[in-house]
Amino acid sequence: MSHLPLRAAALPLLALLAQSTPSPASAGAEDIEEKAQVCASCHGEAGTPVDKSYPLIWGQHQGYLYLQLRDFKLGQRKNEIMNGIAQDMSREDMMGLAEYFSKKTWVNLNQPRASPEEAKRAETAITAGQCSSCHGAEGLGDSTNPRIAGQRREYILKTLQDFRARTRTNNPWMSDITNTLAPEDLEALASYMAGR
Ligand code: HEC
Ligand code: HEC
Repeated sequence: MSHLPLRAAALPLLALLAQSTPSPASAGAEDIEEKAQVCASCHGEAGTPVDKSYPLIWGQHQGYLYLQLRDFKLGQRKNEIMNGIAQDMSREDMMGLAEYFSKKTWVNLNQPRASPEEAKRAETAITAGQCSSCHGAEGLGDSTNPRIAGQRREYILKTLQDFRARTRTNNPWMSDITNTLAPEDLEALASYMAGR
């Protein structure tokens, strides 16, 4: 009890120090903007990914983006490129980047609508897989449920196939669902979601 006043007196000084000396782990807005430059080389300067197999991350939900970065860092989601990139990220970096990209505007990639045959197949699969219960009736998602409407077709197909093959390991639920569907259903779903 006797040393309590001393600690109380030291507190304001500590608080001051904490304010004036940014710790290396904490990332300010400028810092994040700089870190996001690295991402632009693949995910696009203006939000359009440079390769068709790369996902759109502009305007994706913050909670979802953060979880993916965390999973890449921990190796729970495997991808050589992203595992390397996330490896040295602090929690603050990941939170900051997730917030930064979630605030950008989703880019309309103007992908063609699914053919009537594919749309019919996709709608049947959506009912069977209850996709809307998590991704929403329009596929817009929220929080940790990703937006899938308007995502790049090639990427959607690849990642659904990865879930199905259980090479994308970070959501066993999505793996179980895709395993109840046929490979052609995944093709139809990718076209349908991309073209919405
Ligand atoms: C050299 C290219 C490259 C760079 C640079 C890059 N990424 Fe990626 N990113 C990818 C690829 C490829 C994937 C898809 C991985 C897969 O298929 O599983 C991906 C996936 C992601 C995902 C998952 C998206 C989703 O819909 O699941 C997030 C989030 C992400 N990247 C964020 C970032 C951030 C933040 C940076 C910068 C710090 C970055 N990426 C830099 C290539 C890159
Ligand atoms: C119980 C909730 C739930 C249901 C039902 C569900 N999903 Fe998902 N889905 C998720 C979650 C959560 C994720 C993110 C997993 C992660 O963190 O990696 C996801 C991921 C995805 C992705 C990857 C998105 C990206 O950017 O990488 C696609 C594509 C997808 N779901 C499509 C579907 C389709 C199509 C159906 C129906 C056949 C479906 N989902 C049913 C919850 C669900």
